Amino acid sequence: MTPLDQRIDDVRSSALREISEAGDRSALDGVRVKYLARKGHIAALFEELSSVPPDQKPAAGKALNLLRREIQAAFDARLGQAAHPEGRRIDRTDLTLPGKQKWVGSRHPLTQTLDEIRGIFRRMGFAVATGPEIEDDYHNFEALNFPPDHPARDMQDTFFISKNVLLRTHTSPVQIRVMENTPPPVRVIIPGRVYRNEAISARSYCLFHQVEGLYVDQGVTFRELKGTLVSFAKQFYGSSLKYRFRPSYFPFTEPSAEMDITCFLCGGEGCRVCKKTGWLEILGCGMVDPNVYSFVGYDPKKVSGYAFGMGIERIAMLRFGLDDIRILFENDVRFLRQFA
Ligand code: PHE
Repeated sequence: MTPLDQRIDDVRSSALREISEAGDRSALDGVRVKYLARKGHIAALFEELSSVPPDQKPAAGKALNLLRREIQAAFDARLGQAAHPEGRRIDRTDLTLPGKQKWVGSRHPLTQTLDEIRGIFRRMGFAVATGPEIEDDYHNFEALNFPPDHPARDMQDTFFISKNVLLRTHTSPVQIRVMENTPPPVRVIIPGRVYRNEAISARSYCLFHQVEGLYVDQGVTFRELKGTLVSFAKQFYGSSLKYRFRPSYFPFTEPSAEMDITCFLCGGEGCRVCKKTGWLEILGCGMVDPNVYSFVGYDPKKVSGYAFGMGIERIAMLRFGLDDIRILFENDVRFLRQFA
């Protein structure tokens, strides 16, 4: 063993002992300066390399490098412990941290509204029917008694795909499809998406949802139409509401009407929502025009019936106090989470 080897061994054992015995951070730092700093013991040993005979130099240099790495490693290990004196405690769950919120999915307000409407009509004996959103001119207009040049066609701004193919502007074409495929009696509601080529604003969007109703049987009267709709409105909006039917016009119903209810926000006093009138228009309806029966092969002398249609967005907006229809289509979770 050369004298340098002996010195290396001495420095190693004293350094390791002092590192393990250092009681706190500053004692440890003192040990680091003593051994590892630029003027420390290890650097001093490196100085001595110059006086080592050339044939021993490589081995001595290697031994010194090893020493430095070993001491540095021991020091680092001890420093890690000093920072976390309780060792493995650091891996444990910190129960004082705030919890992670797990969000529960929710049904869209339109779906909630629709489900409720569907439930009420199901209990009154209505089945659910659906039809295509891409329609032909025949079902959307012609069979609903809109003559080719009838101005009523302009009432609805239509997205045409080709001359005879379009995005349905209402759910009424499904009335035709149901009657084409089913002999009377029929009693259905038809929920679905409809499209209109309107300027987009807080009040109107290029698509929205309707629920259509159709009941055709022998001897169905306007009185039944009223009774059914009033019963629906009282279940949906509250039993104390007042209502009125105003004459209206649709090509496929005769007579036609619109149903208003007293504003459920102000109870009829007049407010911002009902535009100070005290009334809210909630749906269009009427007795199926006999001309419509001839398009679907029903005998107008044998059957009669009624139809109605209402917009879902409007109802949902009134219910939930929304002032911009577009929020229903943005799928912003900050909005949707409020309906969980
Ligand atoms: N389809 C009509 C509309 O979109 C509503 C309606 C349906 C009216 C059924 C009467 C009967 O405005």
